[in-house]
Amino acid sequence: MAETTDDTRFANILVTGGCGFIGSNLIRVLTEENLVPGLEFIANLDALTYAGNRSNLADLEGDTRYRLIHADICDAARMDNIFRHGQFDAVLHLAAESHVDRSLMGPEAFFRTNVMGTAVMLDAARRHKVRRFVMVSTDEVYGSLPDDSASRFRETTPLDPTSPYAASKAASDLAALSFAKSFGMDVVVTRSSNNYGPYQFPEKMIPLMTINALNDQPLPVYGDGRNIRDWIHARDHARGIVAALFRGRAGAIYNLGAHNERRNLELVERILDILQKPRSLIRFVTDRAAHDLRYAIDATRAREELAWEPQADFGGAFEQTVRWYVDNRAWWEAIIHGPYRDYYRKLYGERLAG
Ligand code: NAD
Ligand code: TYD
Repeated sequence: MAETTDDTRFANILVTGGCGFIGSNLIRVLTEENLVPGLEFIANLDALTYAGNRSNLADLEGDTRYRLIHADICDAARMDNIFRHGQFDAVLHLAAESHVDRSLMGPEAFFRTNVMGTAVMLDAARRHKVRRFVMVSTDEVYGSLPDDSASRFRETTPLDPTSPYAASKAASDLAALSFAKSFGMDVVVTRSSNNYGPYQFPEKMIPLMTINALNDQPLPVYGDGRNIRDWIHARDHARGIVAALFRGRAGAIYNLGAHNERRNLELVERILDILQKPRSLIRFVTDRAAHDLRYAIDATRAREELAWEPQADFGGAFEQTVRWYVDNRAWWEAIIHGPYRDYYRKLYGERLAG
């Protein structure tokens, strides 16, 4: 394990997208859990898009080991300058447009940030001789599984993305692998399943359903609610990213998942039960286009090669997550009363009126 070695190769780390959901959990794991021997500095490079929230890490802003750099990963000249001054040992690349529904409403931003932005980051890291680049990808690159509980995504499963989000992530994931092959760059790719935990932007299913239930608003379940997602706590995902940094093989892909497959409807009902709200709040609405039926991760390679195990117990950690949104009302109220309202109306207005 990293903490039992004197491996101080990665004392100076650049995280991209650190003001988002997983990035902020990752930076907390890095600063709180002593996983990086000799950690000196974490730079958090974030464009603060609608999904980036500086307040997610406000308490760290006085920490001399941490700094937020407000910048866009697509800005090649700026990246060159930042890398020249930063002298980073490692890049943990999370910055992305991340929501499937938004990618259906406007795909361009996804290809710009996820594909072009990642290419800029890879090239800057290569030219400035960063020791290792961890590309944070997703299981959505594999497409959808049948509802048979036997099949799982392995790292060798062919890519078959179905949404512009997933296609843009597949392109960036393959771009990273191409830098390993073409230039001998030290790149590791992680493909995680769906994350849950604190600080998730309210557009995603778990916070959205929790917030609507707390506000006694209808809970919009797409289709029949039988779609399956495989859930992992964001901090377990973060620990997996750190494990890939220290113990991943250069050029390898690691699936990260915690073996928690649940139907959407089951989770929505669980949220209502935790909050003691009636099931009558559930509304079955028009399905998402090309809605992937099932995701399920085989994380054997990560467990064996990275000595990584998810720690969260799903039942308890899920309830704790729901309660985090109960206890942090000011955090999400600031979001849902802003420009998010227009997005919500556009996506759900007709669905909920029908
Ligand atoms: P998020 O939307 O919560 O956060 C994305 C962050 O990236 C935000 O802080 C945003 O400001 C920043 N960003 C966006 N465009 C940028 C740009 N052009 N330049 C710099 N910063 C920019 O996303 P998330 O859920 O935290 O996901 C983080 C990463 O993990 C993504 O790469 C995503 O594909 C991947 N991932 C997410 C999940 C999940 O369940 N959420 C699962 C697997 C993989
Ligand atoms: P989401 O959190 O958007 O993650 P992803 O699309 O990356 O899996 O959605 C999780 C599941 O919940 C997915 O099957 C779509 C479904 N869903 C709804 O049923 N209603 C909603 O309003 C949202 C946002 C998602």
